[in-house]
Amino acid sequence: MNVAVLASGSGTNLQALLDADEAKTLEARILLVVSNRGSAGALDRARKAGREALHLSPSMFATEEEYSDRLLQELVGRDIQLVCLAGYLKKLPPAVVSAFAGRLLNIHPAPLPRFGGDGMYGQHVHEAVLKAGVPQSGPTVHFVDQNYDTGPVVAHVPVPVLATDTPESLAARVLEAEHRLYPRAVAAVAAGRIRLVNGRVEGRLDAT
Ligand code: GRF
Repeated sequence: MNVAVLASGSGTNLQALLDADEAKTLEARILLVVSNRGSAGALDRARKAGREALHLSPSMFATEEEYSDRLLQELVGRDIQLVCLAGYLKKLPPAVVSAFAGRLLNIHPAPLPRFGGDGMYGQHVHEAVLKAGVPQSGPTVHFVDQNYDTGPVVAHVPVPVLATDTPESLAARVLEAEHRLYPRAVAAVAAGRIRLVNGRVEGRLDAT
């Protein structure tokens, strides 16, 4: 299965996916990495791994529709079958979400739906978790739908919240868990062990 990863930042989750691909445990091949930021570390990581790196931002196009058409064309033209968002901070055009329904994944650094939604990204997420005083956080992988962070959950792993945690220390511990979880979840979807059927997730991650 051909995979594209969309990332806006440093791309440590992309790196975890590339490493799994190299180790032949991803059950898929990452062909393309797209970033809306030309200076994103994710694009450097893609090039270093010998994958195609594409800078494509809505601001490079006159209209949202032109951007949407071009992104779809880049994905479909390479026969991409699965799209993984890994710290992608732009909302995907609705046409792209529709075209990849059930084949579009995201990783979020906290339990969903409680700690998701518009504005819930980066440190804001971990601040909200600490403010809520919950005993556990942890990353969530979900299928993407037309809203922020509301799509059906594929997998979640708990990460304990410590009394001494700051947003930074919690973020760092959750990120380590993300790097273990995302490649497993992508492999399960790529291999068809987890599927979206009529809006519901069927199958689950094997225990490790
Ligand atoms: C991760 O915390 C991910 O959950 C969120 O954005 C962050 C991306 O980090 N969606 P990185 O660029 O993969 O290091």
